[in-house]
Parts: sequence; structure tokens; C-alpha cells
Amino acid sequence: MITYNFTTNICRIGMYKTPRGTQDILPAEQAYWRFIDQQASILCQRYGYQRIDTPVFEESGLFYRSIGAGTDIVDKEMYTFEDRSGTKMTLRPEGTAPVCRAYIEHGMHNLPQPVRLYYFAPIFRYERPQAGRYRQHYQFGVEALGDADPSLDAEVIDLAWQFLASLGMKMLVLQVNNIGCKLCRGDYLPRLKQYYSMHSEALCPNCQVRLERSPLRLLDCKNPSCQQIAQNAPKIIDHLCPQCDSHFKQVKGYLAYLEIPLEINPYLVRGLDYYSSTVFEIQPEGGGAQSTIGGGGRYDNLIEELAGRATPAVGFAAGIERIILNMQKQGIEPPPIPQPKVYVAYLGEEGSREAVKLVARLRRAGLGAIKAPGGRSLKAQLKQANSLGAAQVVIIGEEEAKRGSIILRDMEKGDQKEIPQQKAVTLLRDFYV
Ligand code: HAM
Repeated sequence: MITYNFTTNICRIGMYKTPRGTQDILPAEQAYWRFIDQQASILCQRYGYQRIDTPVFEESGLFYRSIGAGTDIVDKEMYTFEDRSGTKMTLRPEGTAPVCRAYIEHGMHNLPQPVRLYYFAPIFRYERPQAGRYRQHYQFGVEALGDADPSLDAEVIDLAWQFLASLGMKMLVLQVNNIGCKLCRGDYLPRLKQYYSMHSEALCPNCQVRLERSPLRLLDCKNPSCQQIAQNAPKIIDHLCPQCDSHFKQVKGYLAYLEIPLEINPYLVRGLDYYSSTVFEIQPEGGGAQSTIGGGGRYDNLIEELAGRATPAVGFAAGIERIILNMQKQGIEPPPIPQPKVYVAYLGEEGSREAVKLVARLRRAGLGAIKAPGGRSLKAQLKQANSLGAAQVVIIGEEEAKRGSIILRDMEKGDQKEIPQQKAVTLLRDFYV
């Protein structure tokens, strides 16, 4: 908050806060982030997915064209602005379209197909903030571009499942559906519209619009009265063309070989327009659609719609904040991030100089060490070493500095001994193994 005084030309700066729906990731939470990031990259390496990073903002048209007008994201949630040249830009509201743009722009169709890519990136959506729903969140996502084989759908679902399992997460439910291709929808959508027209008065205002503009999205409405109506709606899996039907059967077959338990949810449609054929979501048991941890599916037409060659593709993304919330609910602790084990306390100017030298030697030798802050009593320094969890405290007083020695104090045992400074690195290294 800034209060500007026009008479004095002075800005008074009040207390700033994180923008609504965003959060700081404080050091205490970093262990979760590091663990999740590490597991994601280990798994991606194992599955042959390479990292890609795209800009935080893209030309808005990319998202209008891919996610689709009529979706909540495009209609209500994008952070769009004009840059100084008047070009409309949008902060990335999802990761798939930018990856497809990069695939086309860099001629990745010339690489061996499918091209397997992954990202770990911030995503921006102007949503109504609540637990697990933010205006800036992070996604880990994978995209496999250039192969229509159903075993690739199974691979992506397997990767998503193994990723969450590698974090120790249990009690997850995988829901799968097939929302068909243009051909199946030609048969199905008129039936769906006919059914919903019979219930139009009971639909929420948004669904009244969906009925005209994007009938498939009617099945995705979270309004209780619309959900009630959805329960008896015709199912797209009963209207799949032979090709989509066979694809769906094969995906289910592969997932059975991989022993991944799944539920068929014939009303699962996802909130972005580019999907066709396989779609899936992973939720915590009893969590419901609002708490979805990850989701994805096939988007066989997207690259062509973005002016690339016809390129089948499949992918998924998971929300990191939701993963962490669920890990915490399940009592899963990430491995702690190691902290420096050595704390160097000192007395006097000479002691401070020797402390600076010793800390530098330890750090250059690959050992974590920190020097006590200035102007504190030895008692206060030891107290701080204790609260920082140091295993060993080095004390350098004026006398030790003159003698070229240090006092080494074992914090757990409480005993201490004087040793020559030259031996410090060798001795302290033992505490790091
Ligand atoms: P999405 O389902 O919109 O899919 O988002 C993926 C995940 O991001 C969600 O399952 C959820 O965990 C998390 N998420 C979404 N919105 C929020 C939010 N406002 N706050 C916190 N977490 C959120 C996609 O974005 C697709 N691009 C996924 C994909 C990749 N499909 C194919 N490839």
C-alpha cells in the first residue's frame, strides 16, 4: 500500500501483502517443493521426458484458440494485458498450449516421435481463492507429442500415478473417460442437447449459455441442481465411433497390465476445450472434483489448430499446492533439506577474522558452516547455535586465535576440546558422513 502526499512529493509506504490468491513459499515449506521437484525430474528422466521452459506470458491468441472461448479460464480467469507495443499478452493460464507452440515453432516434428517433454512452472488464473485454489499456482506437467498409440495414453497416466506414489501419497482415485472425436460428437451432442433442453429451466444461468455454446461442458458443472440433471444424461462412451471405442478399450487394457486401478466416469469432460478421446483426473478419495490433484488427456487436434501439422498428443498436469495439502493431510513429511552442521562462534576482532577464514575453508571443502552474527556474548552465540540445530560449535576466542587453535564443542555430548586450526576441516568432515 502506498500513500502519496502531493504537497510533499513523498511516498509513505505501508505494509505490503502478497496479492490475493498468491502465497510466499517460505523456507519452512521448501522441503516439500524440493522433494516434489526432485521426484518429478527423477521420474521424467526414467520415462524419457525432457524439460522445457516456456515464457511466463504468451500472446493472448494462443490461449483463446487452444483453451477455447466459453471456458471459465478464457472467459473469466486470464490475466491479460497490453504491452507497450499494444500487443495483447496473457500470463500462462496452463502449460499445454505453450508447449505446443514451442513444438511448432522449433520444428520438433523433425525429432524422433513422440517428443516427450515436461515442465514445472507457475500458472496464473483469476479464480476465487480458497484452500487449494489460488491465482498463482504451480504445475508439474508432461506432454507426449507425435504419437496416437493408446499405449502412450497409458504411459502418461502411469507416469502421473507413479509420480504421486513416489511422494508417498495413498488413497487416490483415478477416473478415466473417453470424450470421443469430432465424428463421435456429431452423433452424441444433438442427443445431449435434446436431453438438456428438456431440463433447461432447472439449469444454472451458466449452463443455459453452455447449452447453446458448448454442450459437452454441461456435464462439468459443479452446481448441485445441474449435477443432478447430469446423472441421467446420455453418456458419450455409448456413442463412440469404432476407432475411439477401440482406443478406449486398449487404454483400459494397458492400464490393467500396469495394475493401475481406475474408475470409469462417463461424465468426466475436463475444463479445457482442446481435449478429445482419453481424459482422466486423479483425486483424493472422497475429495470430489474441486480437489482434483491432477488431470489430462489427449488433444489430437490442438497442434493443427495452432497452425502446425496434424500431430496427435497426450499429457497431464498436477497442481503442486494441492499435492502438498494432501501430503500434509496424509501426514507425509518430505526429507528435510540439510542445514549447516557447524556453527563458528568467536570473541574479539582477532577471533572474528579467524572465524571468517575458518568458515570459508569449511565451505570450500564442501562442508556447511555459518559464522555467528556480530556483537554477541558467547552464551548468546551458543544459544543461537542450539536453536539452529548445529551439531558442532567451533569457538575461537582471542587466546585461541593467537595460538592458532580452536575449541571444538560437541553440542549433543556437551564436551569440548582444543585442537589446532589446521586439523579443523579434517575433523569436522567426519560429522558429514
Ligand atoms: P487443469 O486440470 O486445468 O489442467 O490443471 C491441472 C491441475 O492444476 C489441476 O488438477 C489442479 O491440481 C491444479 N490447479 C488448477 N487450477 C488451480 C488453482 N487455481 N489453484 C491451485 N491448483 C490449481 C491443465 O491445466 C492442463 N494443461 C493439463 C494437461 C496437460 N492436459 C494435457 N496436458
